[in-house]
Amino acid sequence: MSGPILAIETSCDETAAAVIGRTTDPGRPWIILSSIVASQNDIHREWGGVVPEVASRQHVRDICGVVEAALEQAQVAASDLSAVAVTQGPGLVGSLLVGVAFAKAFGWARGVPVVPVHHLAGHIESLVLAHGEVPLPAAVLVVSGGHTSLYFIPEAGRYRLVGRTRDDAAGEAYDKVAKLLGLGYPGGPAIDRVARQGNDRAYDFPTARLTHADRNAPQATAPAGLLPADVARRVDFSFSGLKTAVLRLVRELTGAPASGKAADGNALAGALTAQQVADIAASFQRVVVSVLLDRTFEAARWLEARSVGISGGVSANSRLRADAEARAAQYGIPVFVPPLALSTDNAAMIGAAAMRLIALGASGVGYEFNAEPGLAL
Ligand code: KG4
Ligand code: ZN
Repeated sequence: MSGPILAIETSCDETAAAVIGRTTDPGRPWIILSSIVASQNDIHREWGGVVPEVASRQHVRDICGVVEAALEQAQVAASDLSAVAVTQGPGLVGSLLVGVAFAKAFGWARGVPVVPVHHLAGHIESLVLAHGEVPLPAAVLVVSGGHTSLYFIPEAGRYRLVGRTRDDAAGEAYDKVAKLLGLGYPGGPAIDRVARQGNDRAYDFPTARLTHADRNAPQATAPAGLLPADVARRVDFSFSGLKTAVLRLVRELTGAPASGKAADGNALAGALTAQQVADIAASFQRVVVSVLLDRTFEAARWLEARSVGISGGVSANSRLRADAEARAAQYGIPVFVPPLALSTDNAAMIGAAAMRLIALGASGVGYEFNAEPGLAL
């Protein structure tokens, strides 16, 4: 299996295809020959979030054109491909199915193996596409609309989950708070933008600490022995309390009733001044970013990591990027973040994760595997 591979990603609302090739440099083993992303943002914006049924139908419309464009841009003929990689999960089942069905059909028609890939392994390996092999062991935070998961990577291709969110993902909190502030969808980039005009100390939002050791406390995510018990509890995440605190503040500032159905945006947000919106966005963002970085770097130190990685859609955040650099200098651990095009969902990262599996001996599968919306890593 030495030729380039075609990679396909359709786990949520981006239809993406890429062609990834190999180099002879072990420090930078893979190269992006093309990467095409058809975003459905404009379609879902109207509904304030991703509508699964609409997303899968749009994937069906877009997938052939996106794959053709990826092959064309890479100047690679379908007959030159040595494998097809596809996101198997996690994600929306209807969306995943489109990519999986396409990959199986393509693989079967061309007589090449299909390599199913975990979406988060893709986000992790996006770091290698961007920066080459990172020093190991590494602590990598995958922070997106669906996940806030911290992995320990003792050696290439081994991913050990050490922390994750108990409720909302950080990107989901961004999206919900943006909706509440009338900033539209997707919320992350909108909050990132307006926060620049705001005072990040204007409001004091709480930080959820999952440190209580009583017997009703949820078990820490980190496997026993990897981290001291109190540290293991500290490196899980929770963002739903923060989201509720923002809702409470918005109700207080606008004089809306303190309870009732969670208001979504415009009605309440219309009563806020632009400065209030900017201050809330900046104060919310300060808490999210500091929680993400505190826990990631604390885990990295305990794990004696030689590098920290941050990937996934939220790693596009300008404050997270700037503060991560400052934290890296403070801790003396280098931090790696992918460029914007590799932060949010794309197929190049799925190709990279497949290359990793192939390098470790995977030979691809038959066509019996299926989309797994809850696939674990
Ligand atoms: O990785 P991704 O494209 O899809 C998932 O796998 O979820 O991440 C999408 C998430 C959304 O929640 C979006 O609001 C967030 O990433 N995001 C951002 C920024 N750009 C995208 N969050 C904060 N700041 C940004 N600049
Ligand atoms: Zn993602």
